[in-house]
Amino acid sequence: MSLHTTPELLPFDLDQIAASEGRIALFADPETPLPQATKRADRLTRGAVARAVASPGFAKLKPGESLTLAWPAGLKAEALQIIRLPRKPDAAALRKAGISIGRGLDKTPALICLDRLPLAPILQAALLRAYQYEAQKSEPKPGFGPVRVLLRDPETAQDALAEVMARVDSVHLTRDLVNAPANLLTTESFAAQINDMAELGLKIEILNEAALEEAGLRALLAVGQGSESPSKLAILHWQGAEGAPLAVVGKGVMFDTGGVSLKPGAGMEEMTMDMGGAAVTVGLMQLLARRKARANVVGLVGLVENMPDGRAQRPGDVIRSMKGTTIEVINTDAEGRLVLADALWYAQERYTPRAVIDLATLTGAIIVALGHENAGVFANDDALAADFLKAAESVGEGAWRMPLGPAYDTLIKSRIADIKNSAGRPAGSITAAQFLQRFVKEGMPWMHLDIAGVTLTKTESAHAPKGASGWGVLALDALVAAKFEEG
Ligand code: BES
Ligand code: MN
Ligand code: ZN
Repeated sequence: MSLHTTPELLPFDLDQIAASEGRIALFADPETPLPQATKRADRLTRGAVARAVASPGFAKLKPGESLTLAWPAGLKAEALQIIRLPRKPDAAALRKAGISIGRGLDKTPALICLDRLPLAPILQAALLRAYQYEAQKSEPKPGFGPVRVLLRDPETAQDALAEVMARVDSVHLTRDLVNAPANLLTTESFAAQINDMAELGLKIEILNEAALEEAGLRALLAVGQGSESPSKLAILHWQGAEGAPLAVVGKGVMFDTGGVSLKPGAGMEEMTMDMGGAAVTVGLMQLLARRKARANVVGLVGLVENMPDGRAQRPGDVIRSMKGTTIEVINTDAEGRLVLADALWYAQERYTPRAVIDLATLTGAIIVALGHENAGVFANDDALAADFLKAAESVGEGAWRMPLGPAYDTLIKSRIADIKNSAGRPAGSITAAQFLQRFVKEGMPWMHLDIAGVTLTKTESAHAPKGASGWGVLALDALVAAKFEEG
């Protein structure tokens, strides 16, 4: 369900400024004459706006930051937000302006006076910032009030508005999935929700345990064998073009206790987000379908729960992956790579894709390396990595390239099996990526995104409130648009 009703685009009628209730957002730059809407608000407030814009407080604001006048005399509105924006704002300033607006949005109506400013970057940032997860509260906060936008030519902006809503709804879907607790969002309820996405024109297929056994995905199954929730592989296919697909593979560990290699209790509740890679994959697939992307993309998510139990796998077990590689399970908490090993191999065997991208909350080590600002980008293909970094930059999502290399392979050698699933602390996120690479076919362009640090944040990030961020949906959508979509 959408958090926001679709904003209404209004023709540029300045009388709206006197008449609007709730909040009004408008723009100013101390160095240039006030835009028309701001000038009108200034007249109505008998110069209060111009005084605010000339104040030392306003001078201290960075592009996109704002100050708010409460209960401005002469207006019906209860708040007038003045956003500092230079005459030729760059993409980051526009996004920041939108974030400032979004931070103020609440149940009251809002009027955003854009004039000739571009709709998409500002509105999108505002609606992405104005997210709240209230599903588990017995007395949820009221939703967001209607948003109206004053524009010079509202007709030509309708398509842009539809795209903004597709993106915003999809990022919000990913956040909802990540925020959902593991007792409510199980492998089965997640799969059922994915099944319903067939309505959007996606081809959905859910492989159950029998089908996975039959196809030989023993590594994936081993992770889930201690859980009451049956393991699944869900496939979402958007065929908006001919040719080989791009495959996007997501880690969907509904909850990660660590298994028999049990995690310490403190902070374990966070492991409800261990299906973040699957959530981004699902959000991306919804977005591609909603905007009818002219691209062939198949999303595959491995849905399992990692629990300790009498049937759970143990440290020391040796399992045979779908590829045939045998894996010594040193640590049952290094489970994500087992799920991905089989999901990656299945994706390549079945779809012979143009390229494979996987997303996973894979290692704590990537948080040590990059904190919560950047996801780790591992790739065997420089062009793919560079294209992705550019796409991520364009939407303001942090991403940083990390190294791979055969030297790390010695760390995952096993005494008794082909490889082992854990190499200990040094270079923890790299050895995990190196493990995954063993399940990537020769010559297949591949990129692995370790999103353990960016999926859930304790503080507000550049584009999201604290909690689930939805990181990756926009960056991957931008990558698809730039490199995998027909003209
Ligand atoms: N899901 C965790 C990684 C994780 C940690 C995600 C913190 C988000 C926040 C993963 O399954 C895991 O447990 N990794 C281990 C690997 C180790 C046992 C080799 C880790 O990072 O400690
Ligand atoms: Mn784990
Ligand atoms: Zn995990």
